[in-house]
Amino acid sequence: MSNTAKRQPDGPGKPVKPGKRPVPVASEHTELRPRQVAFDWSRTPLHWVPGDPATTHTINVLHLLLPAGERWFVHVYKQALPLIRDARLREDVIGFIGQEAIHSQAHDDVLPQLRRLGLDPDPYTAQVDWFFEKLLGDRTLPPGRPRRWWLLERIALIAAIEHYTAFLGDWVLNAEALDRKGADPVMLDLLRWHGAEEVEHRSVAFDLFLHVDGAYSRRVRTWGLAFGALVFLWQRGVRFFMENDPTLTDGKASFRAFLRGGREGVLPGAGDMLRSIPTYLGRAYHPSQECSTAQAVAYLAGSPGANGRVPDRTSEGA
Ligand SMILES: [Fe+2]
Ligand SMILES: [Fe+2]
Repeated sequence: MSNTAKRQPDGPGKPVKPGKRPVPVASEHTELRPRQVAFDWSRTPLHWVPGDPATTHTINVLHLLLPAGERWFVHVYKQALPLIRDARLREDVIGFIGQEAIHSQAHDDVLPQLRRLGLDPDPYTAQVDWFFEKLLGDRTLPPGRPRRWWLLERIALIAAIEHYTAFLGDWVLNAEALDRKGADPVMLDLLRWHGAEEVEHRSVAFDLFLHVDGAYSRRVRTWGLAFGALVFLWQRGVRFFMENDPTLTDGKASFRAFLRGGREGVLPGAGDMLRSIPTYLGRAYHPSQECSTAQAVAYLAGSPGANGRVPDRTSEGA
């Protein structure tokens, strides 16, 4: 990484003990570029993980959270650009903004198909919009320290959320159980294209946080806020989907179904999720220490949606 190692992870001007500084892996850095994508949803069924509505809807929550969430990333990062005094980090942030804007739109484009299949997501997305646009939106704060504090807080929150988008990206790139279970190839390609770009840009939010602040106390506090909000919004989203799925007579979300999905490999494992917590909170943690940029770039080179091709549905006998 450029000069990330020289940055002060415990705040500007504070001495940092050796071994307590985030240690980037230089070879994992790559230039970022947004990729235009196209996905044809017309043949994607409601339960795109066949026979498994609980897993389908657990993953479907992404389509409700990400359009507003990633628009919010872009909004906050445009305010952060004037704070960046490192040419390569600036380029990375601009690449990140370009990628997240397309991610947001690509997930939004799934929603009309859900409506066609009888599942109207609007009551839930209205709550998500309020969360990102109002609760985490710009406040009428006076210029100077209060306004800067709120910007730094949101930059740190994005770094914590990006820890989880990279975690999920790495998971879905390797989730062969979804292929074995016959998951819809278009949905898998959307998730893996997005996941691969999350892996590709996994260090940007953390590097920006280190550059503008990097205080360990802020990293811990905002991780707690981000983790709590994600768990709250996610379980609420799964409940919403299960209760409003027109094909289920008594659809209920359950933690047991989530654990079962993890054991089968069609959802992230609870143990892996728990282990990712101390990883992020490690003093020397840097996102480039995890996941593989080479795997992400290889997937992107062959992704049907990112390369103007229709995914192969021959395995379905179509
Ligand atoms: Fe994204
Ligand atoms: Fe991201």
